[in-house]
Amino acid sequence: MTLLKNWQVMPKDLFAMGAIVPVLVINKVEDALPIAEALLAADIKVLEVTLRTPAALDVISLIAKELPEAIIGSGTVTNRQQLQQSVDAGAKFAISPGLTKDLLKAGNEGNIALIPGISSISELMDASDYGYDHLKFFPAEASGGVNAIKSIGGPFPDIKFCPTGGINLNNVRDYLALPNVACCGGSWLVSNKIVETKDWRQITKLAKEALAHVR
Ligand code: 3PG
Repeated sequence: MTLLKNWQVMPKDLFAMGAIVPVLVINKVEDALPIAEALLAADIKVLEVTLRTPAALDVISLIAKELPEAIIGSGTVTNRQQLQQSVDAGAKFAISPGLTKDLLKAGNEGNIALIPGISSISELMDASDYGYDHLKFFPAEASGGVNAIKSIGGPFPDIKFCPTGGINLNNVRDYLALPNVACCGGSWLVSNKIVETKDWRQITKLAKEALAHVR
């Protein structure tokens, strides 16, 4: 089993680049650059574009090409085909809501960081067997939230998490206070409503507020 990773950016560095990772669901390619620019204006560089829309791969390619200062990654990657499509689009990392052994294997063979998702100890142990120690915890609030991650830190202190799912301005500080949480993901900075009204300044405002709140 290959455990050595030949990744361009390592998860440890990604997790250290920003306490808040916006989880983006972008339906229209034309919205990609204004959204990414609005986040960059607030000094948020690590962006996750979920593969939940037909536009997602084009959105990733465009941001990768036009905004090299952004660290653009793909989200909702559930199999090795989507991991390869992410690489081809120019993603610098990939995040999965869960894991399969085949995806863990593909991640180890690939050249961009894979952050697998877990919500149970057995999944964590599978990830760990394949050499993954930076994981997404999803769906965070529904899976026990802060208390669950705190408890996992007992037997597995070396595993670092980026929890997502139900995280917002009201609870993000509680997560970030845990020693095994490096950053948190969430969709609240870029809601559908904001995108529909193309209120890009509001994205920068919310992002700055969020960063000030966790500093
Ligand atoms: C994810 O994919 O990480 C989640 O959908 C983000 O969850 P949220 O919408 O509750 O922030």
